[in-house]
Amino acid sequence: MNVLLTGGAGFIGSHTAVELIEKGHSVVIVDNLVNSKPESVRRVEAITGTKIKLYVDDVADKAALEKIFEENKIDAVIHFAGLKAVGESVKLPVLYYRNNLDTTLTLLETMKKYGCTKLIFSSSATVYGDPEKVPITEDMHVGDCSNPYGKTKYMIEEILKDTCHADSELSVVLLRYFNPIGAHKSGLLVEDPNGIPNNLMPYILKVAMGKMPHLNVFGDDYPTPDGTGVRDYIHVSDLAKGHVAAIEYADANKGIEVFNLGTGNGYSVLDVVKAFEKASGNPLPYKIAPRREGDIAACYASPDKAYNGLKWKAELTIDDMCRDAWEAVKKNPEGYPND
Ligand code: NAD
Ligand code: UFG
Repeated sequence: MNVLLTGGAGFIGSHTAVELIEKGHSVVIVDNLVNSKPESVRRVEAITGTKIKLYVDDVADKAALEKIFEENKIDAVIHFAGLKAVGESVKLPVLYYRNNLDTTLTLLETMKKYGCTKLIFSSSATVYGDPEKVPITEDMHVGDCSNPYGKTKYMIEEILKDTCHADSELSVVLLRYFNPIGAHKSGLLVEDPNGIPNNLMPYILKVAMGKMPHLNVFGDDYPTPDGTGVRDYIHVSDLAKGHVAAIEYADANKGIEVFNLGTGNGYSVLDVVKAFEKASGNPLPYKIAPRREGDIAACYASPDKAYNGLKWKAELTIDDMCRDAWEAVKKNPEGYPND
């Protein structure tokens, strides 16, 4: 299939481009580069030996999006484009609602105009809020999100449900990601966040590179085995393969379906620190700090529905994730070069 990746220059989109191409699909990317660099697309080209069409446009720009659909026969879309920083979304809610909702609405209108019926959407485990139990199954309550970013994901899921209800030709797959980390095994693709990272693995990498003095472990008094927060970390290449499975699922099934993309394993912050120390061969300095506002104790997926429905499961371990993240950052200590 010819698959349009909105936000395809980003961390998950670039990894997904590799896996799609390796499975014989072709990809077109549209990205306004607000949180990425074109170098990521060139790296995907280097890994796959395939030239990729990159459109540097805003997905909310209807004329630009229509031009892409005019120039390319798009069979399916994976909609990664969005702003994703939780803290920033609290400070700039209108920016987040405008960007994440407008891109989705413009995309839906354009897909309708050009008869494109298959859509995969990047949702998030954040839609479950503070779950009443773990592992989290897809039928659990959603919508009680504590920040505007999470609310945009929930709202978009609702928009997509209504749209599918009204149009029986559509095939939509909502993918609720847990915590993607790691990097492609080539070491050519990196997670390259702007400024001081918020997320655990990018922060650990800064500490390991000597750019930050220590990791702050946010809270050691949660009701978890060692008191630190537990999450379902998933290798980004496994997550990317989940999208290939979702595209094939959308090709074979109409209507809307939702799948968790996680491993089903919960690791604490200190488990990740230990796994990282093993991968790097060096101790990682850390300090226990107060809890971070809005954090929950434990969040991990039931991966069963994805296994049964998509015939997909994550294969790589926490050791693989730490090794690949570390190798990639050593090869690209400053992230991707600017153009
Ligand atoms: P990313 O920031 O690396 O990638 C998103 C891409 O979208 C960036 O390249 C950015 O430039 C682009 N973009 C943003 N707004 C755009 C617009 N209006 N027009 C065109 N391009 C635009 O993030 P990622 O980690 O690769 O995440 C991809 C998707 O997955 C996002 O929707 C994110 O919310 C979702 N998600 C990510 C995580 C995570 O932990 N990384 C977890 C759950 C869900
Ligand atoms: N943590 C630290 N120190 C840090 C950063 C994180 O101790 O410097 C801890 C957090 O408290 C949490 C765990 O590491 O217990 C993971 O934190 P992340 O920020 O890496 O990830 P979150 O689970 O908080 O959030 C991520 C994405 C969100 C998404 C959510 C659910 O950042 O966008 O997963 O999918 F909504």
